[in-house]
Amino acid sequence: MMLERLNAIKTEALEKLALVKDEAALRTWENTYLGRKSEFNSLLKGVKELPDEERKQVGAQSNALKQALYAALEAARGALADSGRDWEVERIDVTLPGQGHMTGHLHPITQIEHEIEDIFTSMGFGIADGPEVESEWFNFDALNFPPDHPARDMQDAFWLEKQWGKKKYLPRTHTSSVQVRYMQTHTPPFQIIIPGRIFRNEATDASHEHTFHQFECLVVGDKVSVANFKHLAETFFTAFFDKKIEVRLRPSFFPFTEPSFEFDVNCLLCNGVGCPVCKGTGWLEIGGAGMVHQNVFESAGYKRNEYQGFAWGFGLTRLAMMKYKITDIRLLMSGDLRFTQQF
Ligand code: PHE
Repeated sequence: MMLERLNAIKTEALEKLALVKDEAALRTWENTYLGRKSEFNSLLKGVKELPDEERKQVGAQSNALKQALYAALEAARGALADSGRDWEVERIDVTLPGQGHMTGHLHPITQIEHEIEDIFTSMGFGIADGPEVESEWFNFDALNFPPDHPARDMQDAFWLEKQWGKKKYLPRTHTSSVQVRYMQTHTPPFQIIIPGRIFRNEATDASHEHTFHQFECLVVGDKVSVANFKHLAETFFTAFFDKKIEVRLRPSFFPFTEPSFEFDVNCLLCNGVGCPVCKGTGWLEIGGAGMVHQNVFESAGYKRNEYQGFAWGFGLTRLAMMKYKITDIRLLMSGDLRFTQQF
């Protein structure tokens, strides 16, 4: 009796489903034949009152029916969705040639920065960072530049027009601006590098650019010496260029180091023969260095003569040029994809 009823429901439901033409009708159909108030549902409720033998049979049958109705519902739903589509518009011509995707990559300067960071972190160095727009105090005063001292003009600065009270701000002219910032919040011994972008009001040519990159090194402790500096620099350059590099130190002057040096390596672009980048000398100036001036330690809040250390500011851009044999610095910040795509 119940089995017959189930079969009848199936026949009727499938016949009705064939007439369904839209979503609304489909929902009504689902309610009528599968919903909570459907005949099928109330039949199911009666199943548990049936005698054992019959219950098994009817149970299996109603399960099969339920599955069949749901399968039919899904098929009808799919067919309805498809009927609203324009196959002509959606047609894909698989014979058309494909379009390649451009893959991006890191700028050569960033790649070099990461290489440098890897070498130094492998030697136990930390990496520090500071703002690109800096107060005059951190960029100059704290580094022992006396007011109105001509050393301030050694690095032609851009200045922000707006002032905050007496405070003047500038795009930092060197990564040395981060030295005192870092020392104010850290106690020696420490060894860090500070890679970063710096800005100078320069006339540009093949070896001068107004925006370029440096990396500062700052090592402070009890007995840090010039010998430590020279050894570290040589170790770094040997790792970076993967060959023994000759270096030379020349006496120089910076307000924030005493003694101060100019640091050169032999020009890898021409192997010391002389080229436009090394201006024919065979040597490339990589940057300045020296033993941190005690006045700088005092700016940071350290006691005078309690610590000693060295600092350098080397040209990260210059190293990138040497490594990739780039003869015009202006290409690096040009944003010209024909250039950057080569790396
Ligand atoms: N800040 C100096 C410059 O940019 C370089 C330097 C850094 C010199 C640290 C000594 C110590 O020219």
